[in-house]
Amino acid sequence: MLKQLAVFASGNGTNFIALHDAIKTRPIPATIALLICDQPKAPVIQKAQALNVPVLIVDFHDYANKAAAEQIILTALQKAQVDAILLAGYMRIIGPTLLNAYPHRILNIHPALLPHFPGRHGIEDAFAAGVTETGVTIHYIDAGIDTGQIIGQRPVAVKPDDTLTSLATRIHTVEHQFYPDVLQSLINEGAI
Ligand code: GAR
Repeated sequence: MLKQLAVFASGNGTNFIALHDAIKTRPIPATIALLICDQPKAPVIQKAQALNVPVLIVDFHDYANKAAAEQIILTALQKAQVDAILLAGYMRIIGPTLLNAYPHRILNIHPALLPHFPGRHGIEDAFAAGVTETGVTIHYIDAGIDTGQIIGQRPVAVKPDDTLTSLATRIHTVEHQFYPDVLQSLINEGAI
């Protein structure tokens, strides 16, 4: 049985593309049934549409509160029979409506070695701190900010001549391999 996945994204969507490509080219028995986007102008929307991935745009400003917006998302996820959610640059804290509906079924990718440098600026914060090593973390989502159980991490060295841009490029390259690797492992293990 193909696992039905939803990707949540707010921005560029390079991780969405990497996941989509990997599912097409590797033996990953899954399909991206839905892209959820909370930013109506995000580039990821056009990328998904070009690949015929159904898109649901949920502008949280249109709803009275987070629970109301997440209820719209949950209804769409249930209609699409989604088994697991992959956050890929989704810049919003997941609330109890979705957390309770998908326990241990919501993954996130973060561009730093958690618990170091959580939040929106993981790459910039690590670079500014002058660390010699940072990396990428994939973890389950809980109610905190980047605090859920860690599934795996990949280190990325910070080179003496790195700029923020060169470091970010290397981190993104690792992300684009690592997220599909973790997805493939979890599906093989029956964890999704
Ligand atoms: C990625 O680097 C992801 O790790 C990061 O946002 C970027 C999204 O890029 N996520 C976070 O910082 C979450 N705290 P993309 O839209 O090109 O996939």
